[in-house]
Amino acid sequence: MALLGVNIDHVATVRQARRTDEPDPVWAAVEAELGGAHCITFHLREDRRHIADRDARLLKETVAVKLNMEMAIAPEIVNIACELGPDQCTLVPEKREELTTEGGLDVVRHAKAIADVVCRLKERGAMVSAFIEPDSEQIGAAAQAGFNAVELWTGGYAHAKTNEQRLAVIARLSKAISTAQAEGMEVHAGHGLTYRNVAPIAAMPGFGEFNIGHSIVSRAMFVGMREAVSEMARLLREHAPS
Ligand code: PXP
Repeated sequence: MALLGVNIDHVATVRQARRTDEPDPVWAAVEAELGGAHCITFHLREDRRHIADRDARLLKETVAVKLNMEMAIAPEIVNIACELGPDQCTLVPEKREELTTEGGLDVVRHAKAIADVVCRLKERGAMVSAFIEPDSEQIGAAAQAGFNAVELWTGGYAHAKTNEQRLAVIARLSKAISTAQAEGMEVHAGHGLTYRNVAPIAAMPGFGEFNIGHSIVSRAMFVGMREAVSEMARLLREHAPS
C-alpha cells in the first residue's frame, strides 16, 4: 500500500492570515496522524509564507510517522534541513510570486547545485526526493544527481480539461514510473490531487507515496482533520492496485 503524506502547510496559511497562534499546524499533524496519515509533509519556504521555523522544530519533535520536508536548494534552508534531520527531503522549485509550487524542479538545468545538496542531505541521513515533471530527461538527471526518489508532479493531470488530456497525462505518468523504477528510484506523486480526482492516480501501480495538502485541509474545515485524512486514506485503499 502506498503511503499517504498529508501536507499541513495551509493550516499555517490560515494562522499567518492573522499572524497569530491558531490554527497550529503542529496540532494538525497530530490529528492527521490519528486519522491515518503515514507521513507528515511541510514546506519551509524562504519567505516563511506559511510554515515557520518554530513549526519545523516542533514537528521534528512530535511527529511519530515519517516526516517529509519540502524545500528549495537555498543555502539557508539546506542548513536548516541538515540541522533538523527530517526523514525525507523533497526538493522543489520556489518562486516568490507563485500561489503554490508550480511544476517541477529543473534537475537537468541545475544538475551540479542540486547534486551537492542531495549529497549533503543524504550524509545527514535523509532520503532525498526530487519533485519533477513526468519527463524522462528529468528522471535521468535525478538518478545521476543521486536522488533516492522522485515525486512526479500530478498538476498536469489535475488541470486537464478533457478526458483525452487526462488519459494522455496518465500515460505519461505511467511511462515515468517505469523509467524511474528502472533507475532504482522510488516513485511518489503530488500536487492537485483531490477527493474527486485521486482514484485513477491511486489505481496506478508503482506509486509508493501520495502527498496531498490543499484538498485535505479544505475538507478538514468542515469535518475535522482526523476525519478528512481518514476519508482520503480510505479512498487510496479502495482504489489501490491489487
Ligand atoms: N507535493 C509537493 C512537492 C508540493 O509542493 C505540494 C504543494 O505544496 C504538494 C505535494 C501538495 O499539493 P496540493 O496542496 O495541491 O495537494
